Amino acid sequence: MVDTRVTLSGLTLDNPVIPASGTFGYGYEFAELYDINILGSFSFKGTTREPRYGNPLPRIAECPAGMINSVGLQNPGIDAVISQELPRMREVFHKPVIANISGFSVEEYVECCAKIEKEDCVGLIEVNVSCPNVHNGGMSFGVSPESAALVTREVRRVTKKPIYIKLSPNVTDIVSIAAACEQAGADGISLINTLLGMRIDLRTRRPVIANKMGGFSGSAIFPVAVRMVYQVAEAVSVPVIGMGGVSSARDVIEMMLAGATAVQVGAANLVNPYACRDIINELPGVMESLGIHSLQEIIGGAH
Ligand code: FUM
Repeated sequence: MVDTRVTLSGLTLDNPVIPASGTFGYGYEFAELYDINILGSFSFKGTTREPRYGNPLPRIAECPAGMINSVGLQNPGIDAVISQELPRMREVFHKPVIANISGFSVEEYVECCAKIEKEDCVGLIEVNVSCPNVHNGGMSFGVSPESAALVTREVRRVTKKPIYIKLSPNVTDIVSIAAACEQAGADGISLINTLLGMRIDLRTRRPVIANKMGGFSGSAIFPVAVRMVYQVAEAVSVPVIGMGGVSSARDVIEMMLAGATAVQVGAANLVNPYACRDIINELPGVMESLGIHSLQEIIGGAH
């Protein structure tokens, strides 16, 4: 009998598998397919202060071994999330959920985190300073240690819940940004968000995506994610949630050996809505085949 439990800032998860923000809605859509209480947790869609329609269509471009999205933080806004989405979610998901918060100003991050602080069903806040699909917000806060630390410090003041800062790979030195967030009071680091990418339609000779560029995700980016998780885990002493191209139980174990305490699954949910269920079912057998008795023991094992 293997032990798949892991602990993130005092929150014990039955297993480390967490659907990534933006690929799992508010959970109830997937609850029609399987019992989502088998998940470690899940991170709900990036939420802003105001409702957002998102970017113009088309927003998606398919790629070999991945996809590009430019959704543009489409969401109903923090008040509607709290009054409409979370009650629906609570009917089907009975574990602490991860709230993914995004914004266009430090004040917006603070206001959203202060509101979500009051929600008992939220076990952890993922502060998203890495969305590549909006101007003057999202990723622009995550590309320097100073601005990422500023957001961290300010949201720290308004919440006692664990805060994990979600970082962008579209930077020169992700380690210095992660370290600055830790120093500013982050309880953990989530990485990586998507890589900025682009496709061009050969017939129209125009970008496929209306916004021209978008975030590239999927199994093609897995080695980049493993490298960055390894580097960040070596530099910080807070837990790391690893993500980027994870699509199998073996990928989960590789991410954990790189230093992740828990692992998010993103694009794979869009290819196969049962991806997380399949990974969770597959995990014990893969652990046994590799002689792993407890997942907690392998975290950072490659260092
Ligand atoms: O465009 C989007 O909504 C993506 C968000 C993100 O990658 O954080």
